[in-house]
Amino acid sequence: MDQIPSYVTSLPDGTDTGLYLAVDLGGTNLRVCSVDLHGDTTFSIEQLKAAIPPEIMVAKTFSELFSFIVTRLHAFLETHHAEYAHIDLVSESKSRLLLGFTFSFAFEQSALNRGSLMRWTKGFNIPDAIGQDICSVFQAEIDKRNIPVTVAALVNDTVGTLLARSYTSPGTTTTLLGAIFGTGTNGAYVERLENITKLNPSRDGIMVVNTEWGSFDNELMVLPNTPYDKAVDIESIHPGIQMFEKRISGMYLGEILRHAILSMVSSTSEISPESRLNQQFAIDSSFLSMAAAEDSPDFVVLRFQLSHHFGIDADLDTAEGVKVLALAIGKRAARLAGVAIAGVVLKSGRLEAPKKVDVESGVSRRHRGFWASLFESFRNFVGRWSGWLLRSKIEVHEDVIDIGVDGSLIEFYPGFEDTIRSTLRDIHAIGLAGERRIRIGIAKDGSGIGAALVARMAGIELERAL
Ligand code: BGC
Repeated sequence: MDQIPSYVTSLPDGTDTGLYLAVDLGGTNLRVCSVDLHGDTTFSIEQLKAAIPPEIMVAKTFSELFSFIVTRLHAFLETHHAEYAHIDLVSESKSRLLLGFTFSFAFEQSALNRGSLMRWTKGFNIPDAIGQDICSVFQAEIDKRNIPVTVAALVNDTVGTLLARSYTSPGTTTTLLGAIFGTGTNGAYVERLENITKLNPSRDGIMVVNTEWGSFDNELMVLPNTPYDKAVDIESIHPGIQMFEKRISGMYLGEILRHAILSMVSSTSEISPESRLNQQFAIDSSFLSMAAAEDSPDFVVLRFQLSHHFGIDADLDTAEGVKVLALAIGKRAARLAGVAIAGVVLKSGRLEAPKKVDVESGVSRRHRGFWASLFESFRNFVGRWSGWLLRSKIEVHEDVIDIGVDGSLIEFYPGFEDTIRSTLRDIHAIGLAGERRIRIGIAKDGSGIGAALVARMAGIELERAL
């Protein structure tokens, strides 16, 4: 896997403040937001959301994509922050607004605000973008229109999700992993600098690493490969890559189902050549979620949807078959997602070293002095026999391993998180005890908030450098 250093070397603890812009280019939608960080783990957000037109995803030039984005950015500023819509409007007391750009693709990063695209994934393909410095092309389009905004930071959506979760996460535990299970899939986690050998680190500390796990096992040495997976890959605009993603993420699961249904019904009943079912991407992941959740009598809802969308007059057996397929495809996806999460949890070593915390004083047991440790051992010894420990004011709890997630599958596919959890339990090195320590929380639209947080980090670095 790519394991890309993000240059993010600290995690927010909820105390950051200020107004920042964020532009979030995902696989399906563009979001422009302004985020006002309140410094008490809360924030307020204004946003504009737009579907990305298919022709923009395959535009001729990278600038064309940014021209589309900057038009939306300008419209957003006019509505919500008119004083920043044009350079002439900015009063002297106000400087330029800092913007964090969430770019949900694989890019090689060399600083918080510098990175070049390695490859397109999902539905995007703009060949002239490869290798270009993303922030410079974005900034050039902003400057062309005299908008007083500086692109201060570039973040992958998983890094943004991790930071947003860390900013808002309950308690003092810092988040280990940010993961997306949406149109695409990926994860970013906190690694010790000394382990990131490609950076020749000369100091201690941490850095967030973007794994790009969607491209795990492109050689298919361990991943399952059904005839439907093969068909989905061959027909995709990026054949041969993102093989893990093609078995997990929302863009492809409907396609797997479509191919499976086509092979199933052609032998038992007719599908009209005009049926939409013959079109690529005719089934999206919301259909898959609906089919998996179907429990109406005689499958009436699913049968209506099959007839309404695809002109298929499904009998009971066919409808039941479609439900079974939707369940199998979703379950396989969630189990593979669980494996990715397990890999990061195990690699982090956090399961091996449960940090016991003295709830009363908040002091980590590892850092207690000799006499305090001796006293506690004595109390434990006495307590074991008398039950005194149970009534003791000094309680210990094991460290939580916090994970922030976002994306349409984890949000809407029935039981996706439950299946991830059962997978974690099934993995020996984690088991029931380990799974209980893993807290998974939705960081809804976290990538935008995360981008604002990195823009703030970049702003602080800029000020220091002046
Ligand atoms: C991209 C990742 C991104 C993920 C989720 C993948 O296709 O390569 O960079 O994080 O989708 O959006």
